[in-house]
Amino acid sequence: MTTPWRAGVLTLFPEMFPGPLGASLAGRGLREGLWRLDALDMRPFGLGRHRSVDDTPFGGGAGVVLRPDVVDAACAAALAEAPERPLVALTPRGEPLAQPLVRELAAGPGIVLLCGRFEGIDQRVIEARGMREVSVGDYVLSGGEPAALVLLDACVRLLPGIMGAAESADEESFAGDGALLEYPHYTRPAEWNGRRVPEVLLSGHHAEVARWRRAEAERATRDRRPDLWRSRAADPSRTPAGEGAAPLAARPDAA
Ligand SMILES: C[S@@+](CC[C@H](N)C(=O)[O-])C[C@H]1O[C@@H](n2cnc3c(N)ncnc32)[C@H](O)[C@@H]1O
Repeated sequence: MTTPWRAGVLTLFPEMFPGPLGASLAGRGLREGLWRLDALDMRPFGLGRHRSVDDTPFGGGAGVVLRPDVVDAACAAALAEAPERPLVALTPRGEPLAQPLVRELAAGPGIVLLCGRFEGIDQRVIEARGMREVSVGDYVLSGGEPAALVLLDACVRLLPGIMGAAESADEESFAGDGALLEYPHYTRPAEWNGRRVPEVLLSGHHAEVARWRRAEAERATRDRRPDLWRSRAADPSRTPAGEGAAPLAARPDAA
C-alpha cells in the first residue's frame, strides 16, 4: 500500500479539525485512509506554568504575536514523521492561493500547515524554517484554521480515489491549461418559472454543446475576471492560434 497524502496542522484549536473535512468526499477519503490528517496542538509547546505561546510585539502596537521558539518546537514535532513535506504558513501576507499551487501541493507527499492567531507569527521562524506563505484572499480571518480547511479541501479533492468520474476535475473552473471560469449549469425542468434552458443544451448535438460551453466559459472569464483573461491572453501556451483569447481591448465587446 502506498503512503497516503499526509496533512499536519499546527494550531491552538485542534478541535476545529477535521471539521467540515470529516464529511462528504474528503471525509470518506479520510476514513478509507486515502489521506491522513494530524492536528497538533501548539499549546503544550508553550512556556511556563501557563504554557504561554505569545508575547507583545517589539516596536509596540496592539495585540500579541506567536513566539518563534514555541512555533519552532511545534514544527519540529510535526515534521518528526514525514519531514519531506512542505511547511506552509497561512497569512494574509502570503501568495494568493490559486489552482496551480493547489495542484502542486496535491501532487506532493502532503503538507504541514501553520495556523496563526492574534496579530500573527514571528517572521523569524517563518524564514528560518523556509515556510511558504499563503493567503486565501484579501480579507482578514481571526485565525489560520478556516484558511487551512480551505487549502486542504482544495488539495484533497484532487487526490487519487477521492473524486469519482461524476465529480471530475477535468472540466471545472481553472482546470487544464485554459484557466477559464466554468460555463453555467442547468438541469430539469427545462422550463422553470418562465425561464428556459438554453436551446442548444436540449439539442443533443455534442459539438454544438461543446462550442456553446466554450464560448460561455470565455465570456464569463472576460466579464467577471478580466485579470484572469488578461494573463491568459498574455500566455501564448494558453492561446493556440484561432482560440478566442484576443487581448481585452481588441474585442468589440470589451469594456
Ligand atoms: C487576525 S489574523 C492576523 C492579521 C494580521 N495582523 C494582518 O493584519 O495581516 C490572525 C491569523 O489568521 C490567519 N489569517 C487571517 N487572514 C488570512 C488570510 N486571508 N489568509 C490566510 N490566513 C489568514 C493568519 O494565520 C493570521 O496570522
